[in-house]
Amino acid sequence: MLLSKIGPSILNADLANLSAQCQELLKNGADFLHLDVMDGHFVPNLTIGPPVVNSLRLALPKAFLDVHLMVSNPEMWIKPMAEAGADMYTFHIEATKNPMGCIEQIKERGMKVGMALKPGTPVDAVEPFMSHLDCVLIMTVEPGFGGQSFMPEMMSKVKHLREKYPMLDIEVDGGVGKGTIQQCAEAGANMIVSGSAVVKSDNPAQVISVLKQAVQS
Ligand code: DX5
Ligand code: ZN
Repeated sequence: MLLSKIGPSILNADLANLSAQCQELLKNGADFLHLDVMDGHFVPNLTIGPPVVNSLRLALPKAFLDVHLMVSNPEMWIKPMAEAGADMYTFHIEATKNPMGCIEQIKERGMKVGMALKPGTPVDAVEPFMSHLDCVLIMTVEPGFGGQSFMPEMMSKVKHLREKYPMLDIEVDGGVGKGTIQQCAEAGANMIVSGSAVVKSDNPAQVISVLKQAVQS
């Protein structure tokens, strides 16, 4: 059975209290944590790297850590992220000349493998790799920043994948919250990343619960 999961992105969380915030999110119903890694090159922003992932791993031994690499040369961080304790390594197909090499290395290091698509990348780009992927991440904003507006036109990519691959983990990321979750659920997404809508809310538990109900019904 295909499970639906909600994973808050901590990009817009209070990063001075990261571990406590993550603990709270898990207590409030988060199924995994989505950690956005940016290099100032693939996207115009800088965030966290393996040392922070490792600190979270040590603080939260049971949490599923989904690292989303918005970096050029994603092959460079596979070993460091595996050693830091990442559970899933999601890289952008646009960022590497050798996606299959990345997939192989990620698997060799014992992590699950996700492939991410920027809004401008056609969904067919993932086709040659489908039998090797655990997850496809359809970006619903341009990668780089939290708090942007959801792009509903990306739902056709999700629908297309869901029709062809009933058991695939399909992740959506960017601008997902109470107002946009229904579209994601109807299109067939089952891994829901939500940043600002959760961490900026006065009641994250309630937001997580609304998101979960939408994808589970
Ligand atoms: C965007 C990141 C997303 C984003 C999610 O580059 O990959 O994970 O921060 O945050 P919201 O939900 O605020 O768009
Ligand atoms: Zn992300």
